[in-house]
Amino acid sequence: MSSAPAFPPSAEPAAVRVENLSKSFNDPKRGEVRAVDRVSFQVARGEIFGLLGPNGAGKTTTLRLISTLLKPTSGTALVGGCDIVAEPAKVRERIGFLAGETGLYPRLTPREILKFFGEMHGMKGAPLAGRVQQMIARFGIEKFADTRTDKLSTGMKQRVAIARTMLHDPPVLILDEPTAGLDVPSARNIEQAVKEAKQAGKSIIYSTHFMEEAEFLCDRIAVISDGVVKITGTMEDLRRATGKQRLREIFVDLLGI
Ligand SMILES: Nc1ncnc2c1ncn2[C@@H]1O[C@H](COP(=O)(O)OP(=O)(O)OP(=O)(O)O)[C@@H](O)[C@H]1O
Ligand SMILES: [Mg+2]
Repeated sequence: MSSAPAFPPSAEPAAVRVENLSKSFNDPKRGEVRAVDRVSFQVARGEIFGLLGPNGAGKTTTLRLISTLLKPTSGTALVGGCDIVAEPAKVRERIGFLAGETGLYPRLTPREILKFFGEMHGMKGAPLAGRVQQMIARFGIEKFADTRTDKLSTGMKQRVAIARTMLHDPPVLILDEPTAGLDVPSARNIEQAVKEAKQAGKSIIYSTHFMEEAEFLCDRIAVISDGVVKITGTMEDLRRATGKQRLREIFVDLLGI
């Protein structure tokens, strides 16, 4: 097996600029739902940007918009200089998106899934096999790499899903609650991988409901509620603005709950 780092430094400048991004849904029962309302933020290379908000705040919708799975009602975002509306295919080449639901093929094994995704990104032969093996080792998948995915536990599936997200070594990672429902070792494995990706210069957008995790992992945090960003900044910025110390208190204060 090669000893190359799992996340080598990315060659191109990878940054995300979200500009006045909005998305409304027309719900037959509720009428117009403004899920994302003029959201703006930027993520630098080597930065972990946390997205925090209560259920229904618009986190997943924001991440789906940036990942080009949804089209914005207005506004846009640039990923590595490529516009999500005008150049969605180029954006997709530059991102790894981990959705809330893992979306793994139940009949395939982790090794088969990783190989298949690598092929979809134009990888093949020995380099692909090497990369798959590297991801299997990095995420502690060895013991179940050849077991059908529908036989795996939640935490095992999530390790495979994140390995898939990082397999093609994209400069931008968009992770929607990557550690939800995981035990401490599994969550820690993923958090460490995210830190390694940061050290390699990736830009990471990370949504979570775990306050402690956001506090120690994220360089900057945006608190979003009802589709609107309430505040963006480092923990220090958030402390200064609210006069509170811990993120949980800051969060409660900002949401007025
Ligand atoms: N396809 C859709 N059609 C109609 N409304 C939608 C759709 N997708 C999301 N919404 C609505 O948009 C709002 C934001 O939802 P979203 O899933 O982005 O929230 P979230 O912050 O990810 O919440 P959670 O923490 O529960 O995952 C909610 O009111 C939701 O009902
Ligand atoms: Mg969500």
